[in-house]
Amino acid sequence: MSVKAQNLVWGVKRRQIVRDVSLNVSEGETIGLIGPNGSGKSSLLRLLAGLKSPHSGLVAINDRDIAKVPRRALAREIAFVHQNAATDTNVTVRDVVRLGRTPHRSALSGWTDADEVAVTTALERVDMTSLSRQAWQTLSGGERQRVHIARALAQDPKVMFLDEPTNHLDIHHQIEILRLVRDLDLTSVIALHDLNLAAMFCDRIMILEGGALRACGTPQTVLTEDLIRDVFRTDSEVKHDNGALHIRFRPNSSL
Ligand SMILES: Nc1ncnc2c1ncn2[C@@H]1O[C@H](COP(=O)(O)OP(=O)(O)OP(=O)(O)O)[C@@H](O)[C@H]1O
Ligand SMILES: [Mg+2]
Repeated sequence: MSVKAQNLVWGVKRRQIVRDVSLNVSEGETIGLIGPNGSGKSSLLRLLAGLKSPHSGLVAINDRDIAKVPRRALAREIAFVHQNAATDTNVTVRDVVRLGRTPHRSALSGWTDADEVAVTTALERVDMTSLSRQAWQTLSGGERQRVHIARALAQDPKVMFLDEPTNHLDIHHQIEILRLVRDLDLTSVIALHDLNLAAMFCDRIMILEGGALRACGTPQTVLTEDLIRDVFRTDSEVKHDNGALHIRFRPNSSL
């Protein structure tokens, strides 16, 4: 499914937090949303997912205005992994992932084999099968993050929005989760802080600065030394190696 935003504006009181953002994400694309703290990444993701309404502008999924799509129908198509997701205590890992199936179930149908398979597969994909009976509140930060990703996978969405999904993850799981999301047959927008990981796994990068889209394009065209210095106030050395991008930061920046 494609995701389009037209002239999105959102703010609080008199402060504009998302400023006139327009974007187009094609079906199957993996987009990295990057930008400094407070640049509006989480706010924009929430607008794109229909979790909050813009003051003006619109979001369309497959050319349908999401403001006009019923919540439940939207939940069957869109999954959202929050930046600091919490879950009710006293539930097991598997219970949390089961919640991902809610939009697919009707009041009349019970728990089906298909639901069970979706939950089992999602747990396997994030490497959490062995902990599936453990109480959620006893998990480590990275394990919790992976369970929330499994819940989104169990939802079997067509579009996935992930807000810093690699937060708390060790390097192996950071790479595995991003590889998984990229290889899934769905459209995804991922807010990320690690520019090297964004370059490795994203088809295109969108850079937010002060709530506005500053740049959008392939990692090679967007992640330049000039732009990194300008937006992130950090000196770097960007090397291109057989289509791959390596960014080395210079800690002695005088900026
Ligand atoms: N409901 C709100 N009320 C007031 N200010 C808000 C609200 N939501 C967001 N903001 C402000 O808007 C700005 C953008 O916040 P947002 O969470 O979208 O940034 P971000 O790019 O995701 O940052 P980070 O990298 O730290 O996660 C921040 O300065 C934040 O304080
Ligand atoms: Mg954020």
